[in-house]
Amino acid sequence: MVKKMVVNPYEVSGEVDYEKLIKDFGTTKISKDIYKKLSNCHPLIRRELYFSHRDFDKWLKNYEEGKKVSVITGRGPSEKMHIGHLVPFLIAKSLQDNFGCEVFIPISDDEKFYVKEGLSQEDTILFSRENILDIIALGFDPKKTFIFEDFVYTDIYRYAAKIAKRITYSTAKSAFGLTPEKNIGWSFYPAMQAAHILFPQFFRGKHLSVVPVGIDQDPFIRLTRDISEHKEIGFLKPCALHSKFLPSLYGDAKMSSSDSLGNNLIYLTDDEKTVKNKINKYAFSGGGATLEEHKKNGGNTQIDVCFQYLKYIFEEDDEKLEEIKKDYESGKMLTGELKKYTIEKINNFLEKHRKKRKEAENIFDEFILKNK
Ligand code: TYM
Repeated sequence: MVKKMVVNPYEVSGEVDYEKLIKDFGTTKISKDIYKKLSNCHPLIRRELYFSHRDFDKWLKNYEEGKKVSVITGRGPSEKMHIGHLVPFLIAKSLQDNFGCEVFIPISDDEKFYVKEGLSQEDTILFSRENILDIIALGFDPKKTFIFEDFVYTDIYRYAAKIAKRITYSTAKSAFGLTPEKNIGWSFYPAMQAAHILFPQFFRGKHLSVVPVGIDQDPFIRLTRDISEHKEIGFLKPCALHSKFLPSLYGDAKMSSSDSLGNNLIYLTDDEKTVKNKINKYAFSGGGATLEEHKKNGGNTQIDVCFQYLKYIFEEDDEKLEEIKKDYESGKMLTGELKKYTIEKINNFLEKHRKKRKEAENIFDEFILKNK
């Protein structure tokens, strides 16, 4: 029996039908015209892991007319970051590079403290610092990037309160599936994330800001759009760019920390041996069941997780990716060879990342927003 699809900020399970999500959530498929305008951006866009949006055409139009535009996307620091978490941040960086805009990065330590049993405030504070180093290491411009943690940048509270007053309990309940046994932090937090999403406008005045996120985060965007034009708030509705999920090593729809051993994902801090071991042992392969079968019928790049990782993040060269696709699908390239190549590419990326992460320690403070 096929498991029912569940996609919300706190659970992704079953087989994800992205076309259905566009309909259910009422979003818009990214058009050829938009892809064309983003053709210089990161492969995550070019190769269409980003598939859906809200008003992103307006964002582009405003940019073209010389109006201010910005980007905002966040992270909930419940653990170390894995390669799936790169998906929104690589796009935020790519939009900053291509459109010269400011990027705002809230870190929702409060959210993870409320929703993760067993996670202490001290843990979230430690993970915040670790996660921020990973984010800075992606190369954001310190003059145009603002990072803040809810527990530290407490100025955010008054904005969240303004928003909380405009959201009824029943709206939050239906948007986030609040149930009676949940602590009341769950009920307030959506106002905090809405304050994050509107923060560029609180900080810089009314303008269009886009939120690149996994489609699981869309309920927050819907809620924010519903209240943003209220006369006591007076902002523009935020835009969104939604991505599909990067699969787990096991081939599940979303890479996430659901496996307590961490064998289903690759952390940004995994060393070379660990990456090699995880890919060789656990990466779900689209190859044939036997060598003979593979050579005869070829492999399936649609379901092979190594190919997905190369396609969306680790192989920037279009020609090389096409060659791998052709060779794997024809059976000329074997699963072991594809895995070996992927291990090399991921380890190259992570080696550079480790260096930039070390350097990030020296410029950490330049990114952090201070209370007034
Ligand atoms: P979090 O920390 O769970 O995830 C951070 C971002 O990473 C995306 N993501 C993925 N994308 C593709 N493939 C994956 N396997 C994958 N795993 C995670 C998530 O969709 C998300 O975009 N509440 C948020 C953090 C947050 C935020 C915000 C986001 C706080 N304020 C304002 C956007 C705007 C969260 O817990 O994300």
